[in-house]
Amino acid sequence: MRPTDHVLVIFGASGDLTYRKLLPALFDLYSQSVLPENFIVLGVARSPMSRNDFCDKMKEGIINFSNLGKKYDSLIEPFLSRIDYLSIDTSDKSEYVKLKEKLLSIDNLYRTKGNYLFYLATPPNMYDTIAFNLKAVDLHIEIPNRYFRRIIVEKPFGYDLSSALELNNKLHAVFSEQQLYRIDHYLGKETVQNILVFRFSNGLFEPIWNRNFIHHIEITAAETLGVGNRGRYYEQSGAIRDMLQNHLMHLVALVAMEPPVLFEAHALQNEMVKVLQALRPLDKDSIESNIVRGQYTGARTNRGNLLAYREEKDVAPDSNTETFVAMKLFIDNWRWADVPFYIRTGKRLPSQLTEIIIHLKATPQALFKGQCTGPSCNKIILRIQPEEGIGMQFGLKSPGTGYNVRQVQMDFKYSELANTYIPSAYERLLLDAMHGDPALFIRSDAVEATWKFIDPLLQYIQTNKDFKLFGYPSCTWGPEEANQLIPEGWSEYPAYCSIEEEPKFTILS
Ligand code: BG6
Repeated sequence: MRPTDHVLVIFGASGDLTYRKLLPALFDLYSQSVLPENFIVLGVARSPMSRNDFCDKMKEGIINFSNLGKKYDSLIEPFLSRIDYLSIDTSDKSEYVKLKEKLLSIDNLYRTKGNYLFYLATPPNMYDTIAFNLKAVDLHIEIPNRYFRRIIVEKPFGYDLSSALELNNKLHAVFSEQQLYRIDHYLGKETVQNILVFRFSNGLFEPIWNRNFIHHIEITAAETLGVGNRGRYYEQSGAIRDMLQNHLMHLVALVAMEPPVLFEAHALQNEMVKVLQALRPLDKDSIESNIVRGQYTGARTNRGNLLAYREEKDVAPDSNTETFVAMKLFIDNWRWADVPFYIRTGKRLPSQLTEIIIHLKATPQALFKGQCTGPSCNKIILRIQPEEGIGMQFGLKSPGTGYNVRQVQMDFKYSELANTYIPSAYERLLLDAMHGDPALFIRSDAVEATWKFIDPLLQYIQTNKDFKLFGYPSCTWGPEEANQLIPEGWSEYPAYCSIEEEPKFTILS
């Protein structure tokens, strides 16, 4: 069923997110005929631009970044005919009268029935201002069964616990929680949603998915790129706020949560929140011994000379921002007591991938020659991206005489599913918000739980100048100290780049 007719109003329409992600995803939805019959995208931004110029720019974005733009290029023009643009100063309350008038005229022309979905693709310091300004002209009021008003908010949602609480309060002063859709694009990824299906639709895995059988869990989100042009944002954020507090915490929640009683938004989100609330709080000792921060330094590699983070555009030459973080954490509940979760993320690492590995305990007795005896003889590998799929590692009798064991792997790859289109994360999430399905969005109590967990770390970094920031050369797997967190060692991956000099690991501050 298609969503109800409506106008999607994108604030921050002249920005990168709109250009690279939102419009390409909307075009892909349009190509699959899943958008409403009567549907208009209204781009709103400060930059003065004609509708035609805006459409030209969006066309370029669609051609470069959509999945289906090449296959259905004849649909690009008809899709663009559904796009409009309005230039207003979004920080000025009085300008919202123009927005309201524009929306009314769109409703009259295109029969969009007064249903508005607002998308905040702006810098976060604009979120509350825009919400209050929408309220000033009553654009936030919805009337059940007549028309809806919803608002999608991009990450980062807050800067720390107190700012996240404050933002929640401010937004709740305008919109109810049911109208608020906080996006974490990781939850829009097929492979991330599949964690739930894999765990809760198979009798095979769930019985062993606990402390009795699992030795430890490892999560890696590695990126080969540096911060590029995002230095200004990243300086305020770093890997902890950019990746750990949201994407990685939500992966932990999905891997560790209890089965929901029903597969519907409320039940699902309840279980996610319970896990996040059970994270063992961080204190001085656990921060010092279980967390490693790093920042990439320059290196000569087969991919060229890579800049140090401190040499990137808009980055302070003595920046203390981490571009890598690794941590060992525990979930204090019955299922996971004493099972370590090792998670790491970083920029300028040697591979581009996100993977979750479940390491199972060894058998109680080793019967066979060559049998793997430690933990990790059996692994379940959830490949989130790229080469999306699932792998399983186990021991096999080596063919021939005797009973020698060798490790082999069984693999499922999404690419082997015939005629299957894998939608992008933004396609999935935009469509869910249009349908009013909040299941894959982050509820306020989940946001608060993740910040509550991370906050002591942020405060510790701020107040303890001798909590080290290690320098790791670009194209290495982060500081060597991160390897000491995990006795069994992190899993190894094929490298996209190699370093052409003796790597120099340093202490930056
Ligand atoms: C974003 C971060 O939320 O996620 C980026 O701001 C990061 O810094 C990106 O590169 C990673 O997303 P993905 O989908 O490429 O893994």
